[in-house]
Amino acid sequence: MPRSFAADPHSYARPNEIAVSHLSLDLTVDFEARQLAGAATLTLDRRDPDAREVVLDTWRLDVRAVTTPDGTALPYELADHDPVFGQRLAITTDGADRVVVHYATTDDARALQWLEPQQTASGKRFLFTQNQPILGRSWIPCQDSPGVRATYDAEVRVPADLLALMSATNPTARNADGVYRFEMPTPVPAYLVALAVGDLEFRELGERAGVYAEPTVVDAAAWEFADTEKMMEAAERLYGPYRWGRYDLLVLPPSFPYGGMENPRLTFATPTLLAGDRSLVTVVAHELAHSWSGNLVTNSTWNDIWLNEGFTVYFETRIDEELYGADFTAMLLRLGRQELEQWLAIEEPRDTWLELDLSDPDEGPSKIPYEKGSLFLRTIEAAVGRERFDAFLRDYFDRFAFESMDTETFLAHLREALLTPLGITDEDLQVEAWVRGPGVPSNEPHFASDAFDRVDAEVAAFLAGRPAADLDAADWVSQQRWHFVRALPDDLPYDRFDEADAFFGFSGSGNIEIATAWLEKVIDAGYLFERPAVDTAMADFLTRHGRALYIKKVYLKLAATPTGLDRAREIYADARASYHPVAQMAIDKIVG
Ligand code: BES
Ligand code: ZN
Repeated sequence: MPRSFAADPHSYARPNEIAVSHLSLDLTVDFEARQLAGAATLTLDRRDPDAREVVLDTWRLDVRAVTTPDGTALPYELADHDPVFGQRLAITTDGADRVVVHYATTDDARALQWLEPQQTASGKRFLFTQNQPILGRSWIPCQDSPGVRATYDAEVRVPADLLALMSATNPTARNADGVYRFEMPTPVPAYLVALAVGDLEFRELGERAGVYAEPTVVDAAAWEFADTEKMMEAAERLYGPYRWGRYDLLVLPPSFPYGGMENPRLTFATPTLLAGDRSLVTVVAHELAHSWSGNLVTNSTWNDIWLNEGFTVYFETRIDEELYGADFTAMLLRLGRQELEQWLAIEEPRDTWLELDLSDPDEGPSKIPYEKGSLFLRTIEAAVGRERFDAFLRDYFDRFAFESMDTETFLAHLREALLTPLGITDEDLQVEAWVRGPGVPSNEPHFASDAFDRVDAEVAAFLAGRPAADLDAADWVSQQRWHFVRALPDDLPYDRFDEADAFFGFSGSGNIEIATAWLEKVIDAGYLFERPAVDTAMADFLTRHGRALYIKKVYLKLAATPTGLDRAREIYADARASYHPVAQMAIDKIVG
């Protein structure tokens, strides 16, 4: 436990008075009522001897009683609902070291998505949670601040034909009574508590790694993620021991709103990663990397999210380099830089600083903390050399393990442990411009990629008139095709779009990155509105899955013109109900 907790503008909790150090959940999962009901027992760490109240975050919870473990009622006060932060729950502890909140979730539990049989591969019902950033309070009364860590255990009752899993010790098969017990002995912030309930099977991937998915998906998932154990070994060689025991993956139904979510011991993943050619497994490297950057050393508040995501993108690309080589990774770095440019065009200048000032963390995430953050780390690496930077990072994860980190503390440590001894100043590195300035400072490193130079040459030939079928593209990997799409000009004549699509099959691409890049391009170009088949592919794309950052990009492009906006509204009217509340919130803002 830290000596004192940093102030968090996105939580009502007052952990410097009384902090929650252990959470014990006892919940029944009721699919008919779409409700979790039961109790949360919170173990209290009294940090201020005069403190009388423990303050929790809640969001539209139906709080039925608060008691001591032996059933004595305790006074509590549930404040008015705030549309961003929910309801402050203050419990008078009367000296108790444990309090029990008896509660149920409501229809507004926005961390939860309840799926009907037709929304899953197995044809059975499914429930999953997504807590990051501040949705956890909608199903657990908790101190919902990334700076507050607690161990947890849970007993969860589910229908007997379904398996329950958490970000904790997990079963590998169903039991007869539908009652599952979980332990998470390592302290974690509330955003990393997770639950999934569905028709799930397990496949071993290695000594410490495995994958869960619905029965018709699990073998494909095991094939796609075969490199997971190797990624763990590479990560450990880079930055020290993996501290969470097992690393399993859970492939969710298509409405899962993220590529992946780094729930400890059990990464949640979108089925859109199952491209059939292992081309998207860098997302696994990303979620695995969070086992250090994020889960071990955690951003103090969501304003410091670049310390989670920027470090993780950097670490991810280092794992990719270990497994797939420097030439492959150079393409990823270039694609990341393109991604950053796109998001710089979308976001307000203040939202392009590394140190953020978020009024509503649930509005996020943008890719800026990811890509600008990792580019800043690459800038430091270039200045000090890889060997020194790696030693610095290894020590950083060790020294601050299980602690939280804010931007200023990180910068102070960076100066002391790395820069000052080498005579490098903040001015040399333009630190202030990176952290508290818009856009990208002038000292960014550039990444050369022969593979992309070859693509650029073919793009030039294509634009000069060479037919798509004659391009030298037979051996291109998916990252090269992705780059090709992005490199096409918006004013390309429509018959040339026809040709490119006929040859490469962009409209029907099973690779979500290529499909997204293509749709962005052809919406901008106006081409999509002239080609019913491409429009149908787009509608299908937006209905088939609910991966928030990707559908958001497509809706944003559509919303840029009146015709597009009308079409977006039409599609969204059908698709909305299938999206997770997080994705609904994001898209409501765009087409609402
Ligand atoms: N932790 C994030 C997802 C997240 C971030 C959820 C902020 C809520 C708020 C996860 O690790 C992530 O970054 N997912 C990405 C994939 C990654 C490879 C960039 C995604 O969803 O696309
Ligand atoms: Zn991430």
